[in-house]
Amino acid sequence: MEYFENNPRPASLDSHIALARAFIDQHAEQNRRVALVTSGGTTVPLENQTVRFIDNFSAGTRGATSAEYFLESGYAVIFLHRQFSLLPYARHYSHSTNCFLDYMAFSSSGGVVIDTEYQHQMGDVLAKYKKAKHDNTLLLLPFTTVNEYLWHLRDLAMLMQPLGPNSLFYLAAAVSDFFVPADRMVEHKIQSSEEFHSQQPNGNSGEPPAAHMEGKRLIIDLDPVPKFLKLLVDKWAPHSMIISFKLETDPSMLAEKSRYALKKYSHHLVIGNLLNTRKWEVLFVSAGGGEKWLRVPANRRTKSVSGSRPEDAGKDSEPAVEIESWIVPEIEKLHTQMIENGDPRELALFR
Ligand code: PMT
Repeated sequence: MEYFENNPRPASLDSHIALARAFIDQHAEQNRRVALVTSGGTTVPLENQTVRFIDNFSAGTRGATSAEYFLESGYAVIFLHRQFSLLPYARHYSHSTNCFLDYMAFSSSGGVVIDTEYQHQMGDVLAKYKKAKHDNTLLLLPFTTVNEYLWHLRDLAMLMQPLGPNSLFYLAAAVSDFFVPADRMVEHKIQSSEEFHSQQPNGNSGEPPAAHMEGKRLIIDLDPVPKFLKLLVDKWAPHSMIISFKLETDPSMLAEKSRYALKKYSHHLVIGNLLNTRKWEVLFVSAGGGEKWLRVPANRRTKSVSGSRPEDAGKDSEPAVEIESWIVPEIEKLHTQMIENGDPRELALFR
């Protein structure tokens, strides 16, 4: 594909692929299912020596939370995530409002301990984390830019091919639709002050770079990112179960756009969600025409939008539910159907 000829292979890719190869070999030998969970937003750098970049809202909550439930369901998980976004298990203690130090206290002898209030809940999380470490079922691979994301997705998908239908792609990352291609990127920081404008021309074309100053204005002219999902489904992972997410902000478009994505890419499942309600409702649109909403009732929702801790639930109501704890078991069932029936595209939702 032309994209990979024209945009540089990330420096981190070789070492990540070596780690992934050993991980996949281990789990193939143990006949374990492997899920590639993508998570967080991709950046679009405007300069090679990057000072400025375009980013998006994604915190990685969906991906990090889902990864935990895949592990609980017996999957090994390759967690391809935006560097510094939320991580499985650690996410419980890395909120914007709570510092991890808030969970700690001094013991009577002056040592540092976990505050009694949090011991029980932290013990549960720690036990799961330790198990994943012991069994080597969680591999963390970071990316930052959309270019790094695309290279990783392609190479990991090809590495996972020997797993056949035991492999699953859960594409929760918020991937940029537009980017600056390598041959239209300036090397150095774009100078905002007119006195220092040095129009850095572009390679052979002599055209201005994709991001450049015109007078006092910064002009950004982005190319479309190629639609990688088509390639994933048709070429990189033809025997895997593939689940994509569809994000919209306008409720009236969600179902239609989800169906459209499923038809266009011919994969297994699209999970539609809206920016403002994504923590408590999602729409499953499956191949074969099945559609179903999963909705967490109001009294069981986690309190904040940025954090999603079960312990945030209203104290006098039922315990809070993370919607991912419903999403992942449904997917596990669909994956079993796909493996057992050998018919990858006709899935009966919620049997
Ligand atoms: O991280 P959180 O804060 O918890 O938020 C979670 C989430 C809202 C980011 C997540 O649930 C979600 O919806 N992720 C997908 C967001 C997204 O990229 O949606 P989209 O509608 O732009 O893309 C739809 C599909 O097209 C995706 O499956 C994507 O894989 C695919 N795509 C996108 C870009 C591209 N260049 N090529 C593609 O094929």
